[in-house]
Amino acid sequence: RRFVQTAGLAGLAALTPGLASAETDTAFPAGFIWGAATAAYQVEGAWNLDGKGESIWDRFTHKPGHIKNGDTGDVACDSYHRYPEDIALARRMNMKSYRLSLSWPRIQPDGQGAVNQKGLDFYSRLIDALLEAGIRPFPTLYHWDLPQALQDKGGWPNRDMADRLADYATIVVRALGDRVQEWTVLNEPKTFTQCGYWYGIHAPGLRDPKAFLRATHTANLAVGQAYRAIKAARPNLLVGNAIDVGPVYAASQAQADIAAAERWHKFANLWFILPALTGHYPAGVLPEAEQLALLNWQNGDETRLLADLDVIGLNYYSPWTVADAPGGNGIPGLNTNAEWATVRGGGDGKTANGWDIYPPGFYDILTQMAGVTGQRPIEITENGAAYNMAPDAQGEVKDAPRIAYIRAHLLELRRAMQAGVPVRGYHCWSLLDNFEWAEGYSQRFGLIYVDFAGDRRRTLKDSGAWYAKVAAQNRVI
Ligand code: NOJ
Repeated sequence: RRFVQTAGLAGLAALTPGLASAETDTAFPAGFIWGAATAAYQVEGAWNLDGKGESIWDRFTHKPGHIKNGDTGDVACDSYHRYPEDIALARRMNMKSYRLSLSWPRIQPDGQGAVNQKGLDFYSRLIDALLEAGIRPFPTLYHWDLPQALQDKGGWPNRDMADRLADYATIVVRALGDRVQEWTVLNEPKTFTQCGYWYGIHAPGLRDPKAFLRATHTANLAVGQAYRAIKAARPNLLVGNAIDVGPVYAASQAQADIAAAERWHKFANLWFILPALTGHYPAGVLPEAEQLALLNWQNGDETRLLADLDVIGLNYYSPWTVADAPGGNGIPGLNTNAEWATVRGGGDGKTANGWDIYPPGFYDILTQMAGVTGQRPIEITENGAAYNMAPDAQGEVKDAPRIAYIRAHLLELRRAMQAGVPVRGYHCWSLLDNFEWAEGYSQRFGLIYVDFAGDRRRTLKDSGAWYAKVAAQNRVI
């Protein structure tokens, strides 16, 4: 059987009973890893320096009309040159881990064949600088900047991408795996396949639901192939994957809405983890008669998909409320109307980019995911909020709402850990303000302010000073 039944929403939630939040003792277990995250295209700049090839994001942003205000990542935070400063700030914030990504076209300009030694040298210097600062480098191999030459061959809907990614992974871990033990293969495969190939709002900007479905399967194959390639090159390395998850609530008690919420949960939260752990997709998402053809499934894929992941990376921002969409949404079978929406009376408001704030959703999804991933260690690879305060007359960035957001989510994380969810680290998105994809520089997620209009000077925000204390004291304050 290639498609297995999963426990329903209620069944998963029932695995771990909720405990009352105890604000009086907010300590985290000794050794908990405090960190922050960024991604290559969002911070590096240097889009065409030192032999780097063009990525789909270079191509996409250079065409007018795709990005708010016509912004591009050509320079971004200029972290390609200013990374020593960024690392010094992370150290000042008492961070023990820095989640970064590697730009594939910087290392392999065409996505296959020739290696650009200068690209590998850049990451080698960056890793050494982190180690010297006592910060764990925690790299992701693919955070959306596919070499354009591979998009010209079809991109993610083309199954060959899985092998291309595995080859690139081998090159990288041979060069850098002597100093970096933990690797993440993909960042948010749901987002880059859905926004890039179905909604057309991210690179490469396609609006083709069938291409999107094939892309999801290639992404899952890539995790399996890269997992094996990394273990073959260096058996002692630990391999994980980072997926975006969120609790799914039904919009009403109507049977159709409950069923739609369950379908969306299986797609949004399980589609990019069950194949790695079981070789199968969750049943009931796509129509059974068509699903293999829709995914371009080939004989043997049930083994190719497998990756016995050493660590599970989870990104959480916001919950979903789902209503049935009787007219469908272009995806056969997946007729849910999944939208960001206020849940259970909400009341906690929205962040600057309009995402709903619902901290208990963090507890709900963590306990649900642990029901699937079991005792595998979890790292929170991203959590954070967009708020756009600028320095005041005194040069201070008073971003109290970000502190409130992170604080509330850390308390829910701690509650989930007390209920037995094995989380060992937390990465705030983001270390510094950066290029927020289709939103350009208009949405600021950083603990550090970056002056994009001027000289890109960095200023520690109030939230950064607060986070430094949390990390030092190993407790929520
Ligand atoms: C998801 C992505 O991984 C990251 O690139 C993005 O900037 C943040 N979340 C915020 O949207």
